[in-house]
Amino acid sequence: MISKANIENIKIAAGLIRDGKLVAFPTETVYGLGANGLDPLAVAKIFEVKQRPSFNPLILHISDIKELHSICSSIDDTVQILIDKFWPGPLTLVLEKKDIVPGIVSSGLDTVAVRMPDNDIALELIGNAGVPVAAPSANTFGMLSPTSPEHVEKQLGNKVDMILDGGSTKVGVESTIIQVINHVPVLLRPGGLPVEEIERLAGKVQIGIPMNEQPNSPGQLPFHYSPKVPLRFIDEVTQSDLLNKKTGALFFKKEIPGYDSASIKILSPSGDLRIAAANLFSLLHELENEMVDLIIVERIEEKGLGLAIMDRLKKASNKSH
Ligand code: TXA
Ligand code: MG
Repeated sequence: MISKANIENIKIAAGLIRDGKLVAFPTETVYGLGANGLDPLAVAKIFEVKQRPSFNPLILHISDIKELHSICSSIDDTVQILIDKFWPGPLTLVLEKKDIVPGIVSSGLDTVAVRMPDNDIALELIGNAGVPVAAPSANTFGMLSPTSPEHVEKQLGNKVDMILDGGSTKVGVESTIIQVINHVPVLLRPGGLPVEEIERLAGKVQIGIPMNEQPNSPGQLPFHYSPKVPLRFIDEVTQSDLLNKKTGALFFKKEIPGYDSASIKILSPSGDLRIAAANLFSLLHELENEMVDLIIVERIEEKGLGLAIMDRLKKASNKSH
């Protein structure tokens, strides 16, 4: 399963990425579990393989600065300074995203995390794939981050289509994550690039709240996706709740009769959880855009990707007023 990272294999790996498959590859920080970052179904496979009980926004890896402008809008001056100095390198920047970035990459946020890794194998792979590569660390949920191809094989061996061998990673901890808000750099995750180095160029870094330590009340943080419309599970609503309301419904496989909705969305007509995960955020956004007053959703079984989908929906329904 571990393949030598020669040009031939890198090209094969790039083809796999383009075909919607998963490739584990070295970066300077840790090994990444990569998929075509513009293909929501390929990205859904990442969550399936990692067995995360929830969705987490992913980092898009690029090899060329031109790619940045296709996925992000408005690059602020401070961001540009950081890019010029630290890319390629262990710095991830959270930026305003363009529509081309699927909701499953950003967990429905308006922002997307981007970095250019400082590793020739990674850069060759991304360049040959011709698409930004979405990649979390290539470990199973809750397990140690992989810094060698053997670590990846141990955890994900038969679940990835290829593991590119780049030896041990030189940094060994994940990238530092920064979001510049009103020209102030905010630290979302400490990592491989010391904060002091960033401060030398961009001024005092404010300490943000890391994503994985967020309070249980989404919506309080600037970077947490929360639907603008109240959301309820169908078993929680009564007919009178629906009276005089424009409701949007989100069903798993097919419409459940008895819910008179202005707009009906189906996560996956074939009942495929991967497709459901890939569609989740974009369908919620569509319902929001259609200006419904209430979104009603069907519960799905909390197995496989169903767990992450339900986690997201429960959070959205908790926050509903
Ligand atoms: O070094 C690294 O960054 C490695 C290598 C593979 O590049 N990748 C990595 O990815 O650590 P991951 O998925 O394990 O961590 C990405 C983190 C998320 O947990 C989240 O905290 C943050 O990036 N993140 C991603 N998108 C974000 C966004 N739009 N806003 C805020 N934080 C975001
Ligand atoms: Mg990780």
